[in-house]
Amino acid sequence: MKWFARYLVSLIACASTYVCMARGIGPVCGLDCRVPTTLCPAEGTNNTFCANAWNSDGKGYQCLEVGDDQRSFVATSHWTSLPAHVVHSYPHIKLGSPLFPRQFRDIASLRVNAEWGMGRSAGPKIATSLAVDSDGLTKSQCIANVAFDIWADLDPVLASNESMARIEIMLWLGVFGPVQPLGWDNKTSRTRPQLRLGDNNFTLFEGSASVGRSTFTWMPDTNYTHISQDLSPLVQYLWKNNLVPAEAYVGTVGFGSESFFSLDPIAFTAQSLSLNVTSEGVAPFSPCDSPAGKNQPLRLLSFLFSFATPMIAYSLS
Ligand SMILES: *[C@@H]1O[C@H](CO)[C@@H](O)[C@H](O)[C@H]1NC(C)=O
Ligand SMILES: *[C@@H]1O[C@H](CO)[C@@H](O)[C@H](O)[C@H]1NC(C)=O
Ligand SMILES: *[C@@H]1O[C@H](CO)[C@@H](O)[C@H](O)[C@H]1NC(C)=O
Ligand SMILES: *[C@@H]1O[C@H](CO)[C@@H](O)[C@H](O)[C@H]1NC(C)=O
Ligand SMILES: *[C@@H]1O[C@H](CO)[C@@H](O)[C@H](O)[C@H]1NC(C)=O
Ligand SMILES: *[C@@H]1O[C@H](CO)[C@@H](O)[C@H](O)[C@H]1NC(C)=O
Repeated sequence: MKWFARYLVSLIACASTYVCMARGIGPVCGLDCRVPTTLCPAEGTNNTFCANAWNSDGKGYQCLEVGDDQRSFVATSHWTSLPAHVVHSYPHIKLGSPLFPRQFRDIASLRVNAEWGMGRSAGPKIATSLAVDSDGLTKSQCIANVAFDIWADLDPVLASNESMARIEIMLWLGVFGPVQPLGWDNKTSRTRPQLRLGDNNFTLFEGSASVGRSTFTWMPDTNYTHISQDLSPLVQYLWKNNLVPAEAYVGTVGFGSESFFSLDPIAFTAQSLSLNVTSEGVAPFSPCDSPAGKNQPLRLLSFLFSFATPMIAYSLS
């Protein structure tokens, strides 16, 4: 994996304490989101990369560096303020699809691929690893998760807006430290709906968040650092059981890590990120015929501020 550039650290403010400077698309820090548009994208890939330090504590930082293939990133964060259960940032990729927004009942498949790792980092610099450094994360008292985040709404415009969409469907792949999803209840977890995708098992928790949002979280039984699955069964389960309206639109699929606390800087590496959506009656897009593949401006930047609200309820102890 080759990265655009190495970070230099300076003390110029950028909504977080550190600014990391690099060539190419450069680092994405603070609230910044950027869309690299230089590659002919595969289906749906005008991906957006967001540092999304939407709840900075003013002392820590969150920066993200996009890989040359525009399907990978490394996010480095360091949030040290107490209480430790407050989420500060959600560095993530928004995986595009020319089929979005699309109603739940019209989605035939939502194939995703992702590989990730997490560990201690020497600071705000690139440290790519697809391993989970369990000892290091434990010593750093790291509190974080790794999750896909599917946003939906009856209104197709709101469905694409992470701060407005009223339905949030999460698929957690990694859980570090005492974080639980909204609606978590350890007493009933054995009796909750469970679904199996390939070798991966998930248990459903339902909750609600501010702005009248309903949240549905599929929790893993272990950390899954590689996933290549059709996620549509997790979504179909919800509308077929009348938990969400079949008419609601999926607007966005994100993948990233919510970051709460750590004694040391933490690096989250994500690679091979892709999403392919199919719908009955819509011919699949070939990569360069997709709307996202045409007329891409050469300019690198498109700022899209994203203030994703917390996905997390929080810890019991
Ligand atoms: C999506 O389609 C592209 C192009 O055919 C392919 O390279 C990629 O592996 C697919 N990704 C998934 C998750 O199926
Ligand atoms: C999301 O909605 C809010 C409130 O209407 C708006 O301020 C913001 O610009 C929207 N975000 C996007 C990405 O459209
Ligand atoms: C559920 O959480 C409570 C409060 O933290 C704890 O005392 C109890 O042991 C937990 N029960 C199970 C079955 O894990
Ligand atoms: C998933 O659940 C099945 C039984 O429902 C079990 O056999 C399998 O070992 C589980 N997979 C993992 C990775 O725990
Ligand atoms: C994920 O890995 C961490 C660190 O090894 C561990 O503490 C945690 O329990 C794992 N999460 C799950 C859901 O197994
Ligand atoms: C993604 O591509 C589509 C189709 O070309 C375009 O309408 C949209 O504005 C692009 N999104 C971003 C965030 O650049």
